[in-house]
Amino acid sequence: MLNDKMAPDELRAGIGTKLDEPSRAVTGPLNEGDVFELLKVDHDRLADLFVTIETETDPGALSTHVELLARQLLTHTTLEEEIFYPQVRNFADTEGQVEKNYEQHQEAKEILQQIQRLDPSTQDFKAAVQDLQRAIENHVHEEENYLFPAVKGDLSDEALANLTTQIREGKARYATQYNLQSL
Ligand SMILES: [Fe+2]
Ligand SMILES: [Fe+2]
Repeated sequence: MLNDKMAPDELRAGIGTKLDEPSRAVTGPLNEGDVFELLKVDHDRLADLFVTIETETDPGALSTHVELLARQLLTHTTLEEEIFYPQVRNFADTEGQVEKNYEQHQEAKEILQQIQRLDPSTQDFKAAVQDLQRAIENHVHEEENYLFPAVKGDLSDEALANLTTQIREGKARYATQYNLQSL
């Protein structure tokens, strides 16, 4: 597991980073590993961000954290929808799984839109954040425990290296698109 090898500071490197800080993306430890490790780094960041949101009480800070969460989520889901899923959806062992994952992304984005319309000082906001957290945890669990192992089993070494390169480049590209300079 990548997590076990990384210091908490490294895992949290992107959380709370100011937008105008220079990118640490392309050369940092968070950009190493294969396609699965690169995607898991995003999952761990999202989980970390939910912890930050859970413990925050100031409405202004909550809005800022949710805005960062939105950009992290959109960067990650776009990366998977544009690069990862299309390439693995027809693999022998992934039948049906990818379609379900697309739907789960859609559901998460809809909850996110609800959250963005709510006042951060309300109970409804808190409840919607918890809904999103549950939806994402469930989705991440399915990817990491079912989809990723199935894909791994069907990839040649060459295909793995190729996909990893595309994901690494895509991460940098979509992070820029969503103004997420800390990926
Ligand atoms: Fe994912
Ligand atoms: Fe996903």
